[in-house]
Amino acid sequence: MSGDERSVPPPLVPLPDPAQLPGARALDLPELIRGRRSVRRLRSDPVPPELVTAVLEAACWAPSPHGTQPWRFVVLTRDERKRELAEAMADAWRHHLAMDGQDDETIARRLAGSQRRLREAPVLILVCLDPSDLDRYPDAERQQAERIMAIQSLGAAVQNLLLMAYRLGLDTGWMCAPLFCPDVVRRVLDLPEYLEPQALVTLGYAAADPQRRPRRPLDRLIVAWE
Ligand SMILES: Cc1cc2nc3c(=O)[nH]c(=O)nc-3n(C[C@H](O)[C@H](O)[C@H](O)COP(=O)(O)O)c2cc1C
Repeated sequence: MSGDERSVPPPLVPLPDPAQLPGARALDLPELIRGRRSVRRLRSDPVPPELVTAVLEAACWAPSPHGTQPWRFVVLTRDERKRELAEAMADAWRHHLAMDGQDDETIARRLAGSQRRLREAPVLILVCLDPSDLDRYPDAERQQAERIMAIQSLGAAVQNLLLMAYRLGLDTGWMCAPLFCPDVVRRVLDLPEYLEPQALVTLGYAAADPQRRPRRPLDRLIVAWE
């Protein structure tokens, strides 16, 4: 065993052995990274709780500012809770779509699609920012940078979660809806005021393979390499 392998810390909780999971994807890291995809139609088959725990455990190994781990999770599996959240967020979204000047038919179609997506997913994971442990600064500029760092790390945690889900044979979808109605989400889920809903991840087994979005050529994204 090399020194590097020995320095890998043990998991925070016992993890399922992917070799024992029928749908697990035995892929190496580059393949997992390229294979992970947004799946917007999931089957309603339940997800074993130990797999939900495993994806949350993966999230916790993401880097974070000062190691603060500013992410918090709310897991919803009960139909009633998922429905309540979907309906409350739909009300907020309806208001925003109307403000954007969308016609009634388009609004109804988009809301129905989003609600179906949330209700069909066997697991919803709300990812919230907990800013309590962030460093405090006297000036707004550094405070803003501190906050951005925390949000960046929350994104890294979500990516870990998505990759682990994909490794375990699950699929995911990242939804930004809670960002636009944090008060509604806090009220429906009885969350304290200091938690900031940032993302909603749908988790389950894909109903069908989605069309992938192509990626931009890498050389267009590298601005400088000096
Ligand atoms: C911050 C963030 C917010 C997103 N919000 C949504 C969303 O609200 N609805 C949705 O269907 N997809 C959402 N996505 C998923 C992207 O649309 C998707 O990742 C992108 O189209 C690339 O496709 P892929 O994930 O299949 O590679 C979001 C992704 C990110 C990173």
